[in-house]
Amino acid sequence: MEDDLSEALDTRHNSANDDGAQAAPAASRDAFAKAHSFNRAELAEASGLHPYFKPIAAQHGGTVLANGREMVITGSNDYLGLTQDDRLKQAARAALDTFGTSCTGSRFLTGTLTLHETLEGRLAAFLDKEAALTFSAGYLGCLSVVAALAGRHDILYYDRENHASLYDAARLSFATLRKYAHNDLDELDRLLRADANRPGGRIIVSDGVFSMSGHIVDLPGLVELKHRYGARLIIDDAHATGVLGATGRGSGEHFGLMDEVDVVIGTFSKSFASVGGFMAGERKVVQFVKHHARPFIFTAALPAMQMAAALSALDIMEGESQHRERLWHNVERFRNGMQNLGFDTLGSETPIVPVLVGEDDRTLAFWKGLWDAGVFTTPALPPGVPQGQAIIRTSVNANHTDEQLERLLAAFEKVGKGLGVI
Ligand SMILES: Cc1ncc(COP(=O)(O)O)c(C=O)c1O
Repeated sequence: MEDDLSEALDTRHNSANDDGAQAAPAASRDAFAKAHSFNRAELAEASGLHPYFKPIAAQHGGTVLANGREMVITGSNDYLGLTQDDRLKQAARAALDTFGTSCTGSRFLTGTLTLHETLEGRLAAFLDKEAALTFSAGYLGCLSVVAALAGRHDILYYDRENHASLYDAARLSFATLRKYAHNDLDELDRLLRADANRPGGRIIVSDGVFSMSGHIVDLPGLVELKHRYGARLIIDDAHATGVLGATGRGSGEHFGLMDEVDVVIGTFSKSFASVGGFMAGERKVVQFVKHHARPFIFTAALPAMQMAAALSALDIMEGESQHRERLWHNVERFRNGMQNLGFDTLGSETPIVPVLVGEDDRTLAFWKGLWDAGVFTTPALPPGVPQGQAIIRTSVNANHTDEQLERLLAAFEKVGKGLGVI
């Protein structure tokens, strides 16, 4: 059952996304038959082993109210801990009063607010690019940028561990697709070389921080290949903006290569403590995406409240380094603590700390042990991760207190020893 569950509830990209290979459902004259016979989730719920869709009743700092009690949460993406910040809440309220609850229209038609242009100008300046464009979700930003720019005659090279948004974006584009093994630039080099005589443009697209392993992209290597083969480079910095670099400007700043990234994609749903997405790059390229991307044009514009919260978060990112400093203090404390206990954190270098458990059954039992111990977290099972390498995907935020980190470490130690993982 666990295998079934993992397949049904894959949280990252899945085999269906993986170059379109999905097992054909049993032939039936009723297209809904597959839904009517789908009972894996109910079975898992009944056995107490359904780790997903757990409702949170309230949230405060590093804790949540769930299942009728206070639990320490690990795995959220509120990296700078700003979802509870009064300044963001007040900015959102003020925007609500001025602009109302929704734009009710596409950016293209009646949905462009002055606030969109203000936020886009600020993002472009923050990332040192000519222009920026916002989207109603980071997911839609990935679809928009890649599908608009990777055209019929182009070749799109992408890392196997890229986020599902980029997998779906690749499928939506008409480009020829080439997948390379995770951070394996020798393979990417071979692929680019093999295509040397083909016409069309080349685009390399990669996560800046990989959302499951917490690895950082080999940006210097990608930049070298980009120049060698005349490719364009797009980096999805969803987990890097606000987190990496001396001033939180992401993977480009981390490596001192901000100018070399042709397009940065980002989201407001993580460090920015809001919802929505954005791209930043050359003015002409932004203008092109704005007039061609269907996932941008055919959906309602990002609402004012979300933008006001993101703008307030941007003010804080630019003006207050203490949130990022506290984040990294917590990351090091937690990761070192886990490693000292004997856990394998798969070489993570960022606030995303995967904890390798291995087999699916054991990982679900691990999750249940943590749940019972008052830790709110989620596992990642194959095909979201390789077979036999299921993980508990933890992440640490700036709003975790030392006491909460100790509670996390104590729970992991108890469950890890009980299951023989450490
Ligand atoms: C690497 C990456 N890109 C894009 C997204 C999509 O962002 P959003 O939640 O804003 O749709 C995510 C979200 O988890 C992500 O991890």
